[in-house]
Amino acid sequence: MKTLLGARILVRAGALTDAAPLVREVAPGLRPIVIADTNVAPIHAAPIAAALDTELLTFPAGEASKVRAQWAALTDDLLDRQLGRDTVVVAVGGGVCGDLAGFVAATYLRGVPVVHVPTSLVAMIDAAIGGKTGLDTRHGKNLVGAFHQPALVLIDPLALRTLPPEHRRAGMAEAIKHGVIANEAYFHWIAAHGRALLDPALTADLATHLVLDSVSVKVDVVAGDEREGGRRKILNFGHTIGHAVEHLSGYRLLHGEAIAIGMVVEARIGEQAGVTLPGLADEIGGLCAALGLPVRVAGEFGIDEIIALTRGDKKARGGAAEYSLPTGLGAMHDAGGRFAVRVDETVVRSAIAASR
Ligand SMILES: NC(=O)c1ccc[n+]([C@@H]2O[C@H](COP(=O)([O-])OP(=O)(O)OC[C@H]3O[C@@H](n4cnc5c(N)ncnc54)[C@H](O)[C@@H]3O)[C@@H](O)[C@H]2O)c1
Ligand SMILES: [Zn+2]
Repeated sequence: MKTLLGARILVRAGALTDAAPLVREVAPGLRPIVIADTNVAPIHAAPIAAALDTELLTFPAGEASKVRAQWAALTDDLLDRQLGRDTVVVAVGGGVCGDLAGFVAATYLRGVPVVHVPTSLVAMIDAAIGGKTGLDTRHGKNLVGAFHQPALVLIDPLALRTLPPEHRRAGMAEAIKHGVIANEAYFHWIAAHGRALLDPALTADLATHLVLDSVSVKVDVVAGDEREGGRRKILNFGHTIGHAVEHLSGYRLLHGEAIAIGMVVEARIGEQAGVTLPGLADEIGGLCAALGLPVRVAGEFGIDEIIALTRGDKKARGGAAEYSLPTGLGAMHDAGGRFAVRVDETVVRSAIAASR
């Protein structure tokens, strides 16, 4: 069991069967209400709701549900049931459910506790850890939200067995990122077990190792930097370019797929800026490609468009994009405690061009 900013994080194969007693333990006397999307509801959330003897509220699966209209609908569902401040929201699902139900919990009656039961790889190793909740608007993703630390993050790595393969693969990009930014051995471990990690019949040992090491990196980085003042920025590796190509693809690329491309380009930016050990971009690209992730910037994404989007990124300061760059595998450039640097636009252009 790890603890992060008051949130207990439990990672154990088979833990879903104990979800009800664990929720009752962290939220004694509170009335649980379970929220899940329409895919996860029948598979993983219904048994938890039944064990808790409570209702399951569902919303349509997909990013399109991470919007204020859905937040309002779920909030009204809670109000209709006259649930009070003695409510605990149990969010069972991927990152969309965690962000949406987490924001419902953060705002319901000015905030009620939430338990996250992440079921996608992205949610287990990223979205459920760190206390960020949020919604998308027509101006962009995650622009409305709140920090709301969960009472418990309950992770059963075996839930990955039912996750569609493309989502398992996309989540692997974030796991690889954790290896690059902070754990070289983990990067090599992923490389050594790539195929088995994508196998639908994922073993309990591999699933647990995959999730635990990744969660450890995220917990480590977020601890002490809850609101992104400094070191937490290293988690943005791959995300400045990644978000731009994700957007340009019209979100046809899954987030993790875009991040795979982003990591390769940004490592190349680091190499050309003299920050990153030469060869790292190819090493990251090699592993991503071996797992079936895209690593090249498609010709349809113009360099000017990418650069323009990086300027509008949430991470940009004064209209200039910032990059968190690795020095080598498992180590990030600290840039005098800022953990992010501006890079000359010619370097960015040339790194994108070299990644076609
Ligand atoms: N809050 C944060 O810090 C943070 C961090 C990273 C990502 N996010 C957010 O997370 C979202 C992406 O998360 P995601 O990739 O999990 O998307 P998602 O929640 O849409 O899940 C992906 C798909 O997998 C399905 N699914 C999930 N678990 C399953 C399981 N065990 N079995 C079968 N199907 C399952 C879902 O129904 C969905 O169709 C984005 O909105 C992103 O902004 C938030
Ligand atoms: Zn990400």
